[in-house]
Amino acid sequence: MSKPNIQLDSNGRLRHFLTTEGLSRQHLTEILDVAESFATVGGKSVKKVPLLRGKTIVNLFFETSTRTRTTFELAATRLSADVQSINIATSATSKGESLLDMLHNLEAMHCDMFVVRHADSGAAHFIAQHVAPHVSVINAGDGRHAHPTQGMLDMFTIRRHKGDFANIKVAIVGDVLHSRVARSEIHALNTLGVGELRIIGPKTLIPPSVNQFGAQVFHDMERGLDGVDVVIMLRLQKERMKGALLPSESEYFTRYGLTEEKLAVAKPDAIVMHPGPINRGVEIASSVADGPQSVILEQVSNGLAVRMAVMSMVLGRQGEKSNGKEG
Ligand code: CP
Repeated sequence: MSKPNIQLDSNGRLRHFLTTEGLSRQHLTEILDVAESFATVGGKSVKKVPLLRGKTIVNLFFETSTRTRTTFELAATRLSADVQSINIATSATSKGESLLDMLHNLEAMHCDMFVVRHADSGAAHFIAQHVAPHVSVINAGDGRHAHPTQGMLDMFTIRRHKGDFANIKVAIVGDVLHSRVARSEIHALNTLGVGELRIIGPKTLIPPSVNQFGAQVFHDMERGLDGVDVVIMLRLQKERMKGALLPSESEYFTRYGLTEEKLAVAKPDAIVMHPGPINRGVEIASSVADGPQSVILEQVSNGLAVRMAVMSMVLGRQGEKSNGKEG
C-alpha cells in the first residue's frame, strides 16, 4: 500500500504545502486557477480581501530571503490574516531552545500556520510531522530539496504567457544540482504535462536523476536553447557547493551565461525567467535580465497571487474541518 501524502488531509485537500512532488495535476491546476483570481487584488485601491480574517500566520525564516519572505508577509496581510515574522537571530534559539520547543511555544499562542525557510533539506517536512492537527506548514525553501511556491509562481508565469503546457519547450539552465527551485519546477512541469523539458549546464552541476523525469540534458547551451519557448536561468548556489565544481565565474558566463546572442536561438517570443536573486554577468547579462523578453519582475508580482492562493486554500479548508475529520 502506498504511503499517505502528508500534504493532504483525509478529504484529499491541501493541508500543508511542502513540495510539488506527488501532488496531482488537479491540485496544481487548482493553485494556478485560485492564484488567477487573486492576481488583480494588488492593483486595487484597497489591496485586501477578508478570507483569512482571524487566522494567525507565523513566518520562520532560518535563512536569508528578500522575495519569498516579503511576498509571504504581504500575501497574508492581503488575505487579512494576522502575521508575525520571527527574527531568528534574536529569538531564544540562540539560548539553546530546540526547534520543536520553539514551535510548541508558538503553537501555544494559537497560530494556524508556519511558513518555514531552512537551510536543511527536509526541515519543513519534519516540522509538518510535529505540529498540532489544526496547524499547517508551508515550505518556503528547504536546502536543495524544494521551493514549491516558487515552482508554482513560475508555472503561473509560464501559463499566463504560453497557455497550454503541452505545446511548449522549456529549458532550465545552470546549477540544477543545488537548486530547490529547479526540483520544484521539474516535478510541476512533468505533472502539468509539459511538451518538452531540457536541462542545460556543465556535467558537474546536473544531477543524474534528471533523466528519470524525461528531461533531455544538454551541455552545449546553444543546442539546448534552440527553438525553446521558455528559458529559466538559475543562480550558481555557491553557498551549497562543496569543493570546486567550476573553473571560474568568467568561464562559466562564457559557456552558460545568457546573452542576447545565445537567446537569439530560442523562439523569437521566448520568455526569460529567473527566480532571483540574479547575479549579473555570472549567469545572465544585464541586457537580457532587463531586456524585452525578461519576465523576472513579473515572477515576483505573481509570487503574491500564488502565495495568497496557497495560504487561502490551506487555511480556507479549516472552516470545513470542525467535524474532527482532520487528516
Ligand atoms: N526566489 C527566492 O527564493 O528569492 P529569495 O531568496 O529572495 O526569497
